[in-house]
Formats: sequence, C-alpha cells, structure tokens
Amino acid sequence: METAIFEKYLESAQRTDPIKCVGRIIKVQGLLIESHGPQAIIGEICRIIAPRGKGQIKAEVVGLKDEIVQLMAFEETDGLEVGDRVIALGSRLEVPVSKKLLGRVLDALGNPIDNKGDIDAVGMYPALASPPDPLTRRRVTDRITTGVRAIDGLLAVGKGQRLGIFAGSGVGKSTLLGMIARNTTADVNVVALIGERGREVNDFIENDLGPEGLARSVLVVTPSNSPPLARLRGAYVATAVAEFFRDQGLDVMLLFDSVTRYARAMREIGLASGEPPATRGYPPSMFDSMPKLLERSGTSEKGSITGFYTILVDGDDMDEPVADTVRGILDGHIVLSRRLAQGYHYPAIDVLQSVSRLAPSVSGPATNKAAGAIRKTMAVYDEAEDLINVGAYRNGSNPAIDEAIVKHNPIEEFLVQGIDEPSSLEETLIAMSDITGVQIPLEEMDDKNAKLFAASRPVQAGKEKQQSTDTSSAQDTTKALNSVAALFSSIPGMGSLGIN
Ligand SMILES: Nc1ncnc2c1ncn2[C@@H]1O[C@H](COP(=O)(O)OP(=O)(O)O)[C@@H](O)[C@H]1O
Ligand SMILES: [Mg+2]
Repeated sequence: METAIFEKYLESAQRTDPIKCVGRIIKVQGLLIESHGPQAIIGEICRIIAPRGKGQIKAEVVGLKDEIVQLMAFEETDGLEVGDRVIALGSRLEVPVSKKLLGRVLDALGNPIDNKGDIDAVGMYPALASPPDPLTRRRVTDRITTGVRAIDGLLAVGKGQRLGIFAGSGVGKSTLLGMIARNTTADVNVVALIGERGREVNDFIENDLGPEGLARSVLVVTPSNSPPLARLRGAYVATAVAEFFRDQGLDVMLLFDSVTRYARAMREIGLASGEPPATRGYPPSMFDSMPKLLERSGTSEKGSITGFYTILVDGDDMDEPVADTVRGILDGHIVLSRRLAQGYHYPAIDVLQSVSRLAPSVSGPATNKAAGAIRKTMAVYDEAEDLINVGAYRNGSNPAIDEAIVKHNPIEEFLVQGIDEPSSLEETLIAMSDITGVQIPLEEMDDKNAKLFAASRPVQAGKEKQQSTDTSSAQDTTKALNSVAALFSSIPGMGSLGIN
C-alpha cells in the first residue's frame, strides 16, 4: 500500500517537465530582458535569480515570441547575466489587501516599505482588473466634500466622480491633494504617488499629508528613479487597493499624482518593446490603457471611488496628448493657474476655466443658484478687469460691473484658503449665501459625514482641546509619525535627506 503511493508520486515526478517553469536569460537590452522559457502567460510575475546581481529580482512577462519570453523588471537590472534562471511564479501581479493597510506605504508590488511589519492580508486583489460592469454601476447622486471652499462651493463633486487637476509644476497640486486627503468626508484615501522625485514624496508625506492625513490613507509610492514598469504597476496597485475598500462598501478618495508620469512610463515601455510612436512619442498603448485605468474608479454596486487625477500641463498646453486624452474620459477638470499662484492666491484654482460636470446633480437648487451667481460675477469682473485696473471704468455706467467690483473682494476672500483651514460644507455654503444673498436651506448643507469631518480637522479648531479629549487620535498621530520616520529610513536614498 505504502509503496503504491510512493510509486504514484515517482511516476508523476518523472512525467513532469522541469524546464516548463524555469527559463534562462539569453539577452538583456535596455529595459527588455529575453529568456528561453519559462512557460508563462503575458503579465505573469517571474523571479530572476541573479547571483552576481541583487540576488533576486522580480519581473513581468510583457511579450512572447516563439520560445522566447520577453520580460521587464520591477527593479534595477544591474548584474544580470546570460544564463540566469527565470522562474515563473504562476500568477499575475496581485496586491495583498486588508483594512490594516490604513496608514501604510506600499511599493509597486504592493509590498509595505515602511518597516511597520506585515499587513496581515485577508486576500489578494488583481492589480490589473476590469472596470465594474456599466450596468451595475450606481449613478453619482451623493455629494462628497473636500474641505476646499472653491471645490465644494463652485465645483461640487459627487461620490464616484472622476476629475482631473490640470497644472504646471510647482503650482500647488500636491498641497491641494494633501488638503483634500486631510479634510475630505470620504472614508478612506488611497494616494498614488507615481513618478514623483524622492524629495517630493518625502515632502508630501511629511508636510502635505501630515500624520493625521496618513492615518486615514494608504499610499502607493513609485518614485521617478524606479524602472518604468514599477511606475506603471504602481498605478494599478493603488487602484486595486481603492477597489478593495470600495468592495467593503466604503467611499474611497483616490488621489493620483500624476497621470502624466504614468503615461511617460507607458511611453518608455512602449518604445523599448518596439511599439511605433504615435503622437509626440506616445505609443498607441498609452491611448489604449488610459481609459482602462481611469474607468476603474467611479461607483460600483457596493461603494464608490472618487478620483482626483493630476495632469502636468507645462506652458498651459491643454491640448498636449495626455491632457487631451484624459480630459475626454473624466467627468470634470480643475485648472490650477500659475498667475493665481504667483499672486499668492492659493489654492490657485482658476474657477472660470474649471468644470465639474456633475455639480448640478449633486448639489441642491439654491446652492446651484448661488454658485451660478458667483461664477457670473467673476466672469463679468474678468471681462472688465483691464478697464478697471487702468481706471478707465466709471462707476455707475454698467450695473453688472458695479456689482462685480463690490463683490470682488468678498469672492477673493471666499476662494483663498489657508492650508490648515478646512471649511465644512455648511461654512462654505453660508459664505456663498452671504456673498450672493441667495438663501440656502439647511438640508442642502447636510453633510452626512460631519462627525468624521470634525474629527479630522487639524489646527484651527483648537489643537490642544482635540488632543486632550481624544487620546485615540493622539495615539494614531504618534503611530503615524513613527511610520513616517520608518519610511524615510527604508526608502533607498531618503535617509540622506536628514529628516528625523
Ligand atoms: N495652498 C497653499 N498655500 C500656500 N502656499 C502654497 C499652497 N499651495 C502651494 N503653495 C506653495 O507652492 C509650492 C509648490 O506647491 P506644490 O503643491 O508642491 O506644487 P506641485 O505639486 O504642483 O508641484 C509650495 O511649496 C508652497 O510654497
Ligand atoms: Mg507635486
């Protein structure tokens, strides 16, 4: 009996073709690695054993040509040599998920990089997933607030809406995303930092997000010095984490910085694998992948992912291919203006250039009326501004311009907002009511998550009071601070920035 079992295993061991799962590198050229075997599917993750390199690196199958498997690595390929073994791991990229992801920082493979130990995964989510079936998607009907007056008041956002933030560099994208992360009424934030410089990542976590923002966020970080595949997959990993929380019935805020750098990673990969460049060097795969990525946010049967995606528009070129492609997919765009930033008007949101397509359907009629009145007044002022500034406009010659002049300062005060000065929906709408004289009923100000909002409010409302009455949040803060410290020491090259 025992020998029979033994023989059965022996037999199956003899039948097994051991070459199938292990291949050998035959060529390494730039980003592209070619190997003879293993048998693998496109997208499958492989481990390359590189005794003269880093020991082991992970790579993904990107092409199959006869017997040849084309791979790209998630890490630097220094020290790879012909003959190194390539082992197929049997699955495509998956992300370990758990509610314990909150406050954690992950890399492009979904591994924690903050030295805070395991995340006790309750399951694995595919990094590459299809968007929810359009027929099962709920309509966007509820408002989600960001704590930013210009957005909540004049560009109302719905749960599950997707917006682009279009801006040049240094105009305040990261600061704005940090403000939203700290003050939104969403249950969870997922922040994707794709292709930012190490320094920017550092700044974002320490200054823009801060400990209280980090405690309610999951970060996926793939800095600019990581290989393009890592930058690309970081985008999918972040989206998969957001999908996990959405499946728990939560309202998720996905803050994605930046789509442009994701597209550039796509371009590097496309060109390396021989795709023809289409527009401005971008390969067709970029245009093809963009909707697949962006459509994954939005509502599902269970919860919602509200997406803010940043797009770099240098020199205000809104027709540049990435900006142009993305604008067509999203449900609105927020334009940040360098001119406003230069005038220290922060957040530098150019309201008249910005649109939230769902604003009218997620805010009440009085709110819409007040928002319309403010926009109109701003447009009139904008039109007449040159005349007013050179003193060529005479008071009384046009009632609309007279009114725009009177309301100019109150509107400016409404739009300009300090970094540590969150505004509840009620405060925002009362301010709009004061400016326009439109009465906004209380139910339009109802912010269902007001409690959560109040808890996340940092400085203004009396920091000491909050700390002395809420010890759990103080503990969270300490925990989050420790994790930030750990992160700096764990990301290569970051320890040298001297942050402690
Ligand atoms: N809301 C704000 N209030 C005050 N200063 C701001 C604000 N937003 C941005 N800034 C200034 O602009 C700089 C660049 O902002 P940042 O958010 O890093 O821009 P980006 O991410 O677009 O490159 C900040 O270091 C800060 O000096
Ligand atoms: Mg930035």
